[in-house]
Amino acid sequence: MKRPYSYIAGTGHAVPARVVTNDDIAAMGLETNDAWIIERTGIRQRHIAAPGESLTSLCAEASRQAMAKAGVQPGEIDTIICGTASPDHLLPSQAVEVQTALGCSRAAAFDVASACSGWLYGAIVGDSMIASGAADTVLVIGAEKLSAIVDWTDRNTCILFADGAGATVLRRAKGEKKDRGILSTFMRSDGALAELLWRPAGGGAEPYSADAATGKRHFIHMAGREVFKHAVRSMAEATDRALDTARITAADVDLLIPHQANIRIIEATAKHAGISMEKVFVNVDRFGNTSAASIPIALNDAMEQGRVKEGSTVLFAAFGAGFTWGSLVVRF
Ligand code: ACO
Repeated sequence: MKRPYSYIAGTGHAVPARVVTNDDIAAMGLETNDAWIIERTGIRQRHIAAPGESLTSLCAEASRQAMAKAGVQPGEIDTIICGTASPDHLLPSQAVEVQTALGCSRAAAFDVASACSGWLYGAIVGDSMIASGAADTVLVIGAEKLSAIVDWTDRNTCILFADGAGATVLRRAKGEKKDRGILSTFMRSDGALAELLWRPAGGGAEPYSADAATGKRHFIHMAGREVFKHAVRSMAEATDRALDTARITAADVDLLIPHQANIRIIEATAKHAGISMEKVFVNVDRFGNTSAASIPIALNDAMEQGRVKEGSTVLFAAFGAGFTWGSLVVRF
């Protein structure tokens, strides 16, 4: 087991006040219903931004909570990394908007574009920067306003995706904290499968246009069944690699916090890893799939419920568009 370079010093999360239930979606005129959505996904409700509610405001709220718990002032943050696929603006990054909102004037700020693996990839980048000496205190955010890029007439996607932000402060592990922190990291990608979950238009290859808008090509397109299969396979690899690299077994894991994509993917991941569902954190029923935000929201939720305590060993596993996948083992 490696000596940790960094530990998670504080967490926070923020979601829009507006709650949209499955019945609310059915009432929009889509041919779907509460029972179908619960059975196939485990989702009962999700939070959706009100008109004009920005991702920056959610990121800032989540970050302020994480910084307060870590006892860190804005001037102490030297790096801000934001995992997102739905920033307020395509240029510049979401992270610089958060920097300004928080007044972190000393920080370097940039985004990580790896969809649902965004926070996890960001945490690995932050940990590596701390290991190299390039940073000491890194704010890692996962945040999405997926409601802005989802087609609300497509029942295959709009029932799944939601809005929210989660934030964590990573600090250098030293002194009495030197045995706590990130014990293993694993990240992989496969761009050959990109078109199974993507936005065909809106980038340089097919700029946003009236035609693209008519064809709804700027919205998320997803081949659900294919994505499901790859998600299960990749999450299994991610948990295997996490346990191997940290040189621990499933019995050593106090809590598995998987990406909250879908209850069936979560259950398959837990089964493969040999971790009983009592040791798996699930809040997809209340928050839906918030992509890059899902793991840091779940972590903060788990901490508030007392399910992560000092000394807990937590396994994180993510999978997202790209495809991207990865895992972390963290001792708190
Ligand atoms: N309500 C009612 N019926 C629906 C709905 C809906 N919302 N959506 C699809 N259906 C229908 C389909 O049209 C299909 O009808 P048909 O048999 O007449 O053709 C039927 O239900 C079954 O469709 P499937 O796509 O086979 O349903 P499946 O059991 O695979 O569930 C789902 C669909 C929930 C999308 C599933 O494939 C899934 O979870 N995929 C992974 C999606 C995911 O988690 N993506 C994100 C992971 S990565 C990331 O987070 C970015």
